[in-house]
Amino acid sequence: MKLSFLSVILALTVYSALAVPKQVKPRRTSSLLIHPAGLPPLPRPQLSARISTASADDGLDVNDIQGDILIGMTKVKQSFFFFGIEDAATFKSKLGSDIQPLVTNINQLLSVDTQPVTAVNIAFSKTGLDALGITDDLGETLFNNGQFADATALGDVISNWIPDFAGTRVHGVILLASDTDDNINDQLASIQSILGDSISEIHRVDGATRPGDQAGHEHFGFLDGIGQPAVEGFTQDVLPGQAVIAPGEFLLGTSGDATVRPDWAVGGSFLAFRLMQQKVPEFAKFVLDHALNEPSLSEEENTDLFGARLVGRWKSGAPIDLAPLRDDPELGADPNRNSNFTFDHPDVPGFAIATNQTDCPFSAHLRKVRPRLDFGKEETAHHMLRSGITFGPEVTDEERASNKSSTDPSLERGIAFTAYQSSLTNGFHFVQMAWVNNANFFFGKAIPPGVDPIIGRVAGTAPETPRIISGTNPLNSSELFSLDTEFVINHGGEYFFTPPISALSGKLAN
Ligand SMILES: *[C@@H]1O[C@H](CO)[C@@H](O)[C@H](O)[C@H]1NC(C)=O
Ligand SMILES: *[C@@H]1O[C@H](CO)[C@@H](O)[C@H](O)[C@H]1NC(C)=O
Ligand SMILES: *[C@@H]1O[C@H](CO)[C@@H](O)[C@H](O)[C@H]1NC(C)=O
Ligand SMILES: *[C@@H]1O[C@H](CO)[C@@H](O)[C@H](O)[C@H]1NC(C)=O
Repeated sequence: MKLSFLSVILALTVYSALAVPKQVKPRRTSSLLIHPAGLPPLPRPQLSARISTASADDGLDVNDIQGDILIGMTKVKQSFFFFGIEDAATFKSKLGSDIQPLVTNINQLLSVDTQPVTAVNIAFSKTGLDALGITDDLGETLFNNGQFADATALGDVISNWIPDFAGTRVHGVILLASDTDDNINDQLASIQSILGDSISEIHRVDGATRPGDQAGHEHFGFLDGIGQPAVEGFTQDVLPGQAVIAPGEFLLGTSGDATVRPDWAVGGSFLAFRLMQQKVPEFAKFVLDHALNEPSLSEEENTDLFGARLVGRWKSGAPIDLAPLRDDPELGADPNRNSNFTFDHPDVPGFAIATNQTDCPFSAHLRKVRPRLDFGKEETAHHMLRSGITFGPEVTDEERASNKSSTDPSLERGIAFTAYQSSLTNGFHFVQMAWVNNANFFFGKAIPPGVDPIIGRVAGTAPETPRIISGTNPLNSSELFSLDTEFVINHGGEYFFTPPISALSGKLAN
């Protein structure tokens, strides 16, 4: 068949149109982030924003800070690629020349116009930095020892750790975020082809925002990420009730960080990663079986009330401290109101925050991780920036009917928990150990509140040791509840350092 002149022209045009975009990166038309109502909005883009440093006056360029640190749990899709370094010389050279330009900063993520097709971040464990020959002390012993060495202190059951994480084999993690699996897979394939045999894959976690109206909600059904703190000097629109925390609590070497850090590490952050399975049918059954008995509520409302009192929020995100009896979805969806509470109620005559848990139990998850006015004022030493994403499919009919999570690993679901801070000792590790797992926190109560019912367990106890909590029944705060199932199982994790982008082609590459 003879090709017409026109079809040849057309073919050439199509061919060159396909060939050209190799250099010209396609622009995004829609965001790779979700914007669920109720979560704090992303900070307004301010390309010239600088964060003051602990030592110099000229500030830190936020274009040098890796983007995931400030973005929160709002990616459509996010994958975590855990790797080992096999050939340090090749890896270092490729890191500086080819990987560094792919790494996404904060400002790029804040606007659709500047978002890449797939956002890339990279972080290293201590053994990873060792492999690269980096001997500088970053000033964090927990990081130096790795998370597996910390697992018992964190209350983990060691036998639940998957072998990939049980040790110090993981040298680093590449975080990839986009709105489609294809984009993520393409970007990862391209990174793997750049790095070749200089790395090996150790583990991979593919996370995704839950479908439909569950976007932004974790698998138990609760809107997650509302309590994200604002960063002083960076977040422009602070929400009512939002904690305002010095940048030095999250970013090394910035204002408020008292530890001496190597220059190249300034603007970096320690990342606590945890692979947390959620047993959703088991949680749903437990909540159903312990429905409360508020006379003004239906059975279903009493069931939801019990769940809300374990978490401290209704599934919509509405805090029980402001909506103690019934969910208020409008409140949940309003970021100007859904964090605007303190656990104190000065307007209620005679209300005593130290003893009255009618509105919110001392044991509620949200109160355990952020005690607000329980300390008399917002404490500012133990905050972290939560990031991460849910993983795994929705609950199947079979699991729901049997009240049991499937043992099929492909049906496992949970949270790829990711939290950033400048001190693991004061941040993630402290909150987990001193508050979440501490049955006597908040201190000085007539009846100990018990551990955090969602993620707490007393360190050193045998698996499935019943966990006792109090305060959950608003009609009788002395009533104890025995949680005979652990709803969240940690399967491993690691402590990483997320360096400033300049270090990827500087210190870490040289
Ligand atoms: C936040 O709470 C305070 C104290 O209850 C109240 O005066 C203020 O109006 C609330 N702000 C919003 C936006 O609801
Ligand atoms: C505890 O707080 C609730 C709700 O704010 C209030 O109705 C109740 O009177 C308080 N109880 C005491 C003993 O003060
Ligand atoms: C699942 O739990 C519910 C609530 O306790 C119960 O009514 C139902 O019988 C349970 N189903 C099975 C198969 O055990
Ligand atoms: C409240 O709970 C405690 C502990 O279970 C129990 O001893 C007490 O009788 C209960 N009080 C009421 C009024 O039901």
